[in-house]
Amino acid sequence: MVVIRGATTIAEDSKEEIKLAVKELLEQIVSCNQLRKDEIVSIVFSSTSDIHSFYPAKAAREAGFEGCSLFSAMEPDIEGGLKLCIRVMVFVEKNILPRHIYLRDAKTLRKDITSIFNVAIDGPAGSGKSTVAKRLAEEYGILYLDTGAMYRACALKALEAGVPVDDERAVFDIVRDIKLDIVYDNGAQKTILDGADVSERIREPKISMAASVVSKHPSVRMYMAEKQREIAHKMSCVLDGRDIGTFVLPGADFKFYLTATPEVRARRRYDELVAKGRIVDFDDLKTELVRRDEQDMNRAVAPLKLAEDATLVDTSNMTVEEVVSFLKSKIQERI
Ligand code: DC
Repeated sequence: MVVIRGATTIAEDSKEEIKLAVKELLEQIVSCNQLRKDEIVSIVFSSTSDIHSFYPAKAAREAGFEGCSLFSAMEPDIEGGLKLCIRVMVFVEKNILPRHIYLRDAKTLRKDITSIFNVAIDGPAGSGKSTVAKRLAEEYGILYLDTGAMYRACALKALEAGVPVDDERAVFDIVRDIKLDIVYDNGAQKTILDGADVSERIREPKISMAASVVSKHPSVRMYMAEKQREIAHKMSCVLDGRDIGTFVLPGADFKFYLTATPEVRARRRYDELVAKGRIVDFDDLKTELVRRDEQDMNRAVAPLKLAEDATLVDTSNMTVEEVVSFLKSKIQERI
C-alpha cells in the first residue's frame, strides 16, 4: 500500500469551489501517478475549520471517485495555518513511488516534495551512505537511488555470462542490453535484473570487488551515469555513490561526502554480513575494503573524491540518527 499526499486551497467557501478544487486535485494525483481509479483503496480528506459548504468526500464521489471508501474530517484551527485548505491522503494498492501534489496556495506547504531537488551522497564503502540516503529519502518522501546497486547488477550479469570483468568491450556489450529495474516493495528497494530479484545476490563480497572493476570502464560509467541523470532530472531523489556530486550531477542541490576510518567501515560491513548469517573474516574484509577504496579513488574516469562544494561528514563516531539529522539540518537551511 502506498499513500499519496496532496493539498489545495479554495478561493471562497462555496460548494462549487470545493467541487472544482477537489476534482482538480484528485485528477492531478491520478495522472501524475499514472493510477487507475480501481487501484485507489481509500481517500481521506481533512479541511480547515473555515470550510462548511460541502464535504470534500462528496465532491470526490461526484467527480467519479465512487469505487473506494471516502472520508472527510475537520482539522483543528491552528493559528497562522493556511486558510480554506483541503488536504488529502490517497491510499493506493500499487507499487509506485508516490508523487505528491500540492496546488494553488498549498504549494507553499511542502516545498521539499513538490519542487525537484537532488541530494548527492558520495563516499567510500561502509561510510553509512546507503543507510542515511534511504532514511533521508523516506523522510522527504522522495526516491532513493542506490547507484552502487546498478554497478553491482552489471557485475553480476557479466560474471554469470562468464565474461571477464576487466574486459571493457565484453562487459559493455552486456551492459548495453541489460534490463535493470530498481523497484520498491513495501518501502524496500529491490534490484530486478532481467526479471529476477537479485537484491541479495548483488551484496555478495565477490560482487563488491567485481562491481568496482566494472565501474572503472569509461563506456560502462558513461552509460550508467546517463541513466542516473535521466532519473534525477525527472524527480527529486537522494542518490548515493562515488561520483554523484563530481560527475553525475555536478549541479546537485545538496552534496555530502560521508567517510569514516577503515576500521569502523569494515566493522559495519562485517556486522551487516554476520547479521545475515554469513561467515566472514574481519581482516580479509577490511583488506578488501581498503583495496576497493584504492581502486575507486584511483581510476581514470570519475574517481571517488570530495567535490569542492560538498559537505564532508566523518561518521566514525556518529549514530545513524545523528548523521541523518545533521544532513537534514543542512538541507533545511536552504529549502
Ligand atoms: O556503493 P557500493 O558498495 O554498492 O558500490 C559498489 C561499487 O560500484 C563500488 O566499489 C564502486 C562502484 N560505484 C561507482 O563507481 N560509482 C557509483 N556511483 C556507485 C558505485
